[in-house]
Amino acid sequence: ALALLTPTDLAGVRAVVSAGGTREPVDPVRFLGNRGTGRQGVAVAAELARRGADVTLVAANVEIGIPPGVAVVPVTTALELEQAMRDAAGDADVVVMSAAVADFRPSTTAPAKVKKADGVAPPTIELVTNPDVLAGLVAARHPGQVIVGFAAETGDDAGSVLDHGRAKARRKGADLLAVNAVGTDQGFGDVPNAVVVLDAAGDEVGRAGGSKADVARGLVDLVAARITGVDT
Ligand code: CTP
Ligand code: CA
Repeated sequence: ALALLTPTDLAGVRAVVSAGGTREPVDPVRFLGNRGTGRQGVAVAAELARRGADVTLVAANVEIGIPPGVAVVPVTTALELEQAMRDAAGDADVVVMSAAVADFRPSTTAPAKVKKADGVAPPTIELVTNPDVLAGLVAARHPGQVIVGFAAETGDDAGSVLDHGRAKARRKGADLLAVNAVGTDQGFGDVPNAVVVLDAAGDEVGRAGGSKADVARGLVDLVAARITGVDT
């Protein structure tokens, strides 16, 4: 009876979702990381799978359990994530970039543990820029493929959360960009979330809020409408 109540509007749809946060190695025991836990991306993967999609999760250091029925490709660094997303996105109908990808990585990884010594100045970590995975996926997008990005923003002197989100939506060219305000008590970890969803022109197409599962449901509704062309 339960199966009859499960909407399978995404049966036959192939989806790939990235989640978590990349780690960029400094030496064999240290990395530069971020506060992405994978919760929001995993919730999106679970919602897509629940609605019948065939889901691959590219998981960067995801700290929580993976939903049943979701295929997992584990990755550590931004470069690994880029390769895994490229491989999986080729024949995907839906691509969701939820992972927090490091913008920069150490230019070199020390082959042995970096040691401290009395009277020796601390080392400087030189950084290089990582590829923009989402931009690469948008550039390689095939007709009919729906690409979704996330943007974690804080307001600043240059503009509000939404100002920054609109500019990013236009710059990134993803079909949908889910903008959320992040702070110490919002966005990261096991906390409620709220997103404003913009299209590639920067126009608002929807909002979703509540638990990360609620946000996932709202976002997947917008994705489903773009795939089928029908508002669900
Ligand atoms: N993203 C990506 N590759 C990167 C950086 C970000 O694919 N090297 C993706 C994220 O997964 C997210 C979207 O781009 O879906 C926006 O990420 P965000 O960090 O908000 O934007 P940036 O373009 O990196 O800009 P900035 O951090 O300077 O605000
Ligand atoms: Ca960034």
